[in-house]
Amino acid sequence: MSTFTIDTSTSRATPSPVPGKRTTAPSIRGRKVDGRTETPIVMLTAYTMRMAQLLDPHCDMLLVGDSLGQVIYGLPSTIPVTMEMMCAHGAAVVRGSWHALVAVDMPFGSYEASPEQAFASASRIMKETGCAAVKLEGGEAMAPTIEFLAHRGIPVIGHVGLTPQAVNVLGGYGARGREGAEASKIAADALAVDQAGAFCIVVEGVLEQIATDVARSVSAPIIGIGASAECDGQVLVTEDLLGLFERTPRFVKRYADLASEIGQAAAAYASEVRSRAFPTADQTYRPKS
Ligand code: KIV
Repeated sequence: MSTFTIDTSTSRATPSPVPGKRTTAPSIRGRKVDGRTETPIVMLTAYTMRMAQLLDPHCDMLLVGDSLGQVIYGLPSTIPVTMEMMCAHGAAVVRGSWHALVAVDMPFGSYEASPEQAFASASRIMKETGCAAVKLEGGEAMAPTIEFLAHRGIPVIGHVGLTPQAVNVLGGYGARGREGAEASKIAADALAVDQAGAFCIVVEGVLEQIATDVARSVSAPIIGIGASAECDGQVLVTEDLLGLFERTPRFVKRYADLASEIGQAAAAYASEVRSRAFPTADQTYRPKS
């Protein structure tokens, strides 16, 4: 059974406050003209309806990242993330947004075996969430799959460089491309994904110069994370920029300190409950006079 209310740019049933105005994959792709994106593309992760509502007015794209495995579920990596998790959170984010393009990550194991497996998974994600695109990790090896999906009505975001689903092969989450051969491989991966038809490409955790070179040489917009200011856009995990975690990667800039604010609010609540200062007359029901 479907879990969402249809809300895509073309739906007549859209409940959007501005119907028909949701950002589309072609419009994101079209932002890069002659190798240059004038105004960088803004992307953030969102996993819940309320966060989507708050971020949507400010973002071109919302990514329901499989980072939700760690951020929401406390998992050790993105490897155990399931299709059910991605579909439930993807539907919530679509319900909470009307302007940004919503892209949903394909979880580990849902697309690597074959283009046909990828199509079955991606079409399920799109049907169950109402999202307008999927993202999958991998370079040259995934190019035939990206082409297969793109030719069958599925807008795809590529993801190269540090690909967290490959953590067991990479051996950790350190920046990639410190050696010449790996730098060339990242550039070749980005080019292959571009030529396969990805409408934009996330480049994560690579030396700055590699990201700059890739952004200049590849025709699809490059969305950087731990990459370069020269990219065509940027993405961060929202909980990182809000300061919800003590430890964040080096490339994260904290724009708020919500962990402290939440701690202070919880401490004030606990103190007032224990002293019976909460609830007061303002928060209790009395007979109407
Ligand atoms: O899963 C995720 O949130 C991501 C972004 C960090 C790009 O892939």
